[in-house]
Amino acid sequence: MVIRSVESVVAGPPIAWASTPTFQRLREHGRATAPVTRCTLCTTDRIGLMPSHPPETRPVPLYDPTAISDYTALWAKLLAEYPGGLVPVQLEPDPNVTGWLTITHAMTRHVMESPEFTRDARHWAALQAGRIPEDSPTLANCGPRPNALTSEGDLHLRYRSSLVNALEANAKGGQGRVLNQIGLVADRIIDTFCEAGRVDLIPQYASYLPMLALCRLVGLNASEGVQLCTQMGRIWDGGPETAHAYGELLSLLRTVARTRRRNPGNDIASHMINDGLTDEEVTYQVALVFATSQDPVAHLIGNTLAQLLRDFSAEHAGLFLQIPETINTILWRDPPIRFVPGRWTTEPVELGGYRLPPGELLVLGFGPAHYDLLTTAAVDPRTSQVHLGWGAGRHRCPVTGRDTGLALAEVGVARLLRRLPDIKLEEGVDPDRLPRRLSVDVSGLSSLPVRFTPTAPIDKGDPWRLSSLSGLTPAASTTESQHERSGLLARLLRLILPGN
Ligand code: HEM
Repeated sequence: MVIRSVESVVAGPPIAWASTPTFQRLREHGRATAPVTRCTLCTTDRIGLMPSHPPETRPVPLYDPTAISDYTALWAKLLAEYPGGLVPVQLEPDPNVTGWLTITHAMTRHVMESPEFTRDARHWAALQAGRIPEDSPTLANCGPRPNALTSEGDLHLRYRSSLVNALEANAKGGQGRVLNQIGLVADRIIDTFCEAGRVDLIPQYASYLPMLALCRLVGLNASEGVQLCTQMGRIWDGGPETAHAYGELLSLLRTVARTRRRNPGNDIASHMINDGLTDEEVTYQVALVFATSQDPVAHLIGNTLAQLLRDFSAEHAGLFLQIPETINTILWRDPPIRFVPGRWTTEPVELGGYRLPPGELLVLGFGPAHYDLLTTAAVDPRTSQVHLGWGAGRHRCPVTGRDTGLALAEVGVARLLRRLPDIKLEEGVDPDRLPRRLSVDVSGLSSLPVRFTPTAPIDKGDPWRLSSLSGLTPAASTTESQHERSGLLARLLRLILPGN
């Protein structure tokens, strides 16, 4: 047996020595002596690999959105270079914030379903050692906090069941039943731009719809809604403001929890209070609902509309039949949640050709995992449900959450196409070069300019006692500033949500 020298391995692509037939055979006979080496940069033991990250195998930088703009090419490259299904990655410019990206369907599913990987960030060795900066966007994204997603064991069951019960109680009926109100909310938003004949669908439609529906779900008033939605966008952007934005979001939601305790309604915060959760626990569960749904739903709507307009730019016949299939295809090919940093090793484990010590961060790669299965198995992305877009295992998206996300996307897309039947991409816009959101974790567009024959608003009075929309400014052009947009959002929220 020839054990490759460190120098010879350094010169070539990474080789998972432990997965070679020779090593497997030797191990079966109890004679395997894996050349385990310790990386001098990340202190990770590697089997059959080099003792440090040479240029060729330095952690792949995932923090630069422009580096992953051609994501399909990147998935293909990573899958070819890391056949074990695990890639060392750097998540921020700070070299301490590293992790391991799962890139195959089998590996991603295994990590989500196996009890040996925890969702509890207190296991993160680099965090325990004080190497993760306090303002790290990754820490803000997946750090320890008392909610269902980042807890394990009894606490996870308590938070998850309370949240699921609250979502189901809201879905069962009553005035605040959000699933019934999606079409109405969509109509109110469309009314704000339908007379203009053109609109940018991402900031002026796809982002507003889940925002407004979620605000209703939580029973927020208009000014609470504006503040909350602003902070949520900053958190998903993952920039230096993430940690601050998360703090602002929490302080707002603490007030909401205190208010609902005094004045309960058919909203999920009131249901969880009724279920025995403290104000602090309610605050974190409500923050979780916004974190897991606002931007993913917005981009599911945006990516689906872009796909439909690309495929059927001149001919809308049959478009409605294609909506569920197109949404499913998007969940496969361009999932709105591309990466989820959020599992940790709890004991030494051999994974993807590496031997990882406890406390290593694993990053779920939904984007590459789907690409992997689509290119290696007979999967029909229009109908197959084996994608990982809703997660898997004990932390998978609750059924009511999934149904709410799908209903928002399906109704939101269908209502827009029905109201604006000749909608088309704006003249001169290349459907294959639409600007993308500068985020690594979520995958979506930042702009989708369209035009259509102007039509009258349908404000027909209101099951929610909404006031007239006549005071709203019609949609501005695609260059509408952030300031103008937040003004429009504020006015919409005032009309759609209870008093402020
Ligand atoms: C397009 C929309 C959505 C997508 C793609 C999505 C995706 C996901 C994924 C992938 C997870 C698992 C994360 C992990 O294992 O680390 C998850 C968990 C979760 N989702 Fe969703 N979700 C969506 C919408 C929603 C909505 C609308 C709600 C609630 C109204 C919701 C509530 C939750 C909750 C509470 C969890 C945590 C469950 C737990 O840890 O036990 N999601 N979601």
